[in-house]
Amino acid sequence: MTDAAIPSAFDLTGRIALITGSSRGIGRAIAHGLASAGATVVLHGRDPERLEQTRAEFAADFDAPRGQAGSVHEGQQYGPRVHAVAFDITDAAAVASGIAHVEATVGPIQVLVNNAGIQHRVPLLDLAVEDWNRVLDTNLTSAFLVGREVARGMVARGRGKIINVASVQTDLARETIAPYTVSKGGIRNLTRAMTAEWARHDIQVNAIAPGYIHTEMTQKLVDDEQFNSWIIGRTPAKRWGTTDDIVGPALWLASDASNFVNGQTIFIDGGMTVTV
Ligand SMILES: NC(=O)c1ccc[n+]([C@@H]2O[C@H](COP(=O)([O-])OP(=O)(O)OC[C@H]3O[C@@H](n4cnc5c(N)ncnc54)[C@H](O)[C@@H]3O)[C@@H](O)[C@H]2O)c1
Repeated sequence: MTDAAIPSAFDLTGRIALITGSSRGIGRAIAHGLASAGATVVLHGRDPERLEQTRAEFAADFDAPRGQAGSVHEGQQYGPRVHAVAFDITDAAAVASGIAHVEATVGPIQVLVNNAGIQHRVPLLDLAVEDWNRVLDTNLTSAFLVGREVARGMVARGRGKIINVASVQTDLARETIAPYTVSKGGIRNLTRAMTAEWARHDIQVNAIAPGYIHTEMTQKLVDDEQFNSWIIGRTPAKRWGTTDDIVGPALWLASDASNFVNGQTIFIDGGMTVTV
């Protein structure tokens, strides 16, 4: 999509967007889409090498001069529209200093996408409490921690957009993924709780709930012939989703085109959650 093709309500020129877990997968696609709509993007991840690789690719697409090198640890400014920062979203102190660093070096965050997440597949009877906590911390508590730090500035400025990444597992359970299902169910109600307190400050908080999307997180499932054909059969659209399928709804919720949309969870699932 070129800037010229984007209607003005979807234009993000001059807005700063932080997308957690954006060195790959769905987060990367969302970050690329928001940058294509004019946003200044702050890429985020844990693995500095992977983050730097994505940062360089984005810089080639969006920044001039192109592809300056540097350390992602220091969150340096690389050019006008692409930045990168590494911190652990499960560590409250790291989140606070990471957000403060972004706002001091890049500027006020106007769009936050709480995207980073993990999966852990094991039957409930075999599930260790440490793994339960790790999934809940990474997928749910992190959205509270990052959302809280970013919302402090949004509330003070009286404007902002927060997009939490949920899942079809927000609505549907499946064997072996209990903590993931619980975390994504929690994301829907966290989105509602944030709305209850922050909508009055002109902050729109919504969630997007992807269906089965082919990424590194789901590669094992794609490779499993039986599971793969079950997914295709179970999805009315008869295919896996792609990361590009997520970009349009994310752009809508990041932009002025959704200024009276509050607390919703938008399923992007090829119809999976409306059929048996
Ligand atoms: N792929 C799917 O089918 C699917 C479906 C529904 C929802 N989702 C959700 O979409 C989001 C992205 O999924 P994906 O498929 O792109 O996964 P992915 O594994 O490709 O990417 C996840 C990203 O999160 C980052 N991350 C994980 N833990 C982190 C931590 N503690 N601190 C900082 N970064 C951390 C990883 O480094 C990675 O960049 C997740 O929230 C996932 O639950 C995915």
